Amino acid sequence: MPHPIASPARAPDRPVWLDGRIVRGEAAAVSVFDRGARDGGGLFETLRVYGRKPFAWERHMERLVLGAAELGFPVPPSPIRLRDAVAEVLDAAALSDAVVRITVTRGIPGGRPVRTGAWVEAEPVAGRLWPGARTTHPEDGGPAGGCAVLSKTPFTPGFLGRHKTTSRLAWDLAREEARAAGADEVLLVSPDGEVLEGGASNVFVVRSGGDIFTPPLAADVLPGITRATVLELAAPLGIIVHEAPIPLEMLRWASEVFVTNSVQELLPLREVAGRRVPEREVTLRLLACYRERVATS
Ligand SMILES: Cc1ncc(COP(=O)(O)O)c(C=O)c1O
Repeated sequence: MPHPIASPARAPDRPVWLDGRIVRGEAAAVSVFDRGARDGGGLFETLRVYGRKPFAWERHMERLVLGAAELGFPVPPSPIRLRDAVAEVLDAAALSDAVVRITVTRGIPGGRPVRTGAWVEAEPVAGRLWPGARTTHPEDGGPAGGCAVLSKTPFTPGFLGRHKTTSRLAWDLAREEARAAGADEVLLVSPDGEVLEGGASNVFVVRSGGDIFTPPLAADVLPGITRATVLELAAPLGIIVHEAPIPLEMLRWASEVFVTNSVQELLPLREVAGRRVPEREVTLRLLACYRERVATS
């Protein structure tokens, strides 16, 4: 008797650069003996490519290479080789604007030398944008703005929170809470009631008067590349950013809240934990500077 499930899940057909070759679909496969597949022993970078140019490439490579060294990974492919891989995969996918993901794993143990597994993927941007980033605000033409819920499970990232590892289950399950609530993002809250970061983003709170708060990296949040760029852009605008804890009650009187990541850029939140966020002016000013930086880099 044939099994009632008609067709097995199909691997996506998009091209992938895998250990030096462009492959597609079922051929884009990693060994079950690879520590990335077995134990979540991998690191990755997700970045935006604008007009064939990866934004903040050096920063992404720095995070990847330092992370690999700190966690005792085999040496990953060089940034030059990965940059060539990005170009190859963009050509194969016929994309000039894209979301690119670079993954390196701890490889298969026992071989000498132990090599990382490595692959590079590119996808169109539109499919990756959250609804609040994809739609436009009717008045100011910026992003419509997102909605965030608070995770119901107190979150303790631990030291791995500082690295963009493929051990993502805790963050993915939190993101499911956002999906279930029809929200764009979920905010992770420590057992002490401090807002840490989003399930896939860093978080910023604007106090009326203009000062901004974002949790310090000492809280084991991901050192986001977009977070670092925002810190850099704020200073010349005369905006003071405090890298300081954000107690939950701050969300109740914040004039603006926004989240950042390389794909969504800066996303103003219009609703957080059921409260309407009243303003978005500072966020939009920073977003304009961010886009200017993208255009001129
Ligand atoms: C948990 C978490 N925090 C923050 C970020 C933002 O990082 P970046 O700005 O480097 O994309 C991400 C990105 O996916 C993330 O997964």
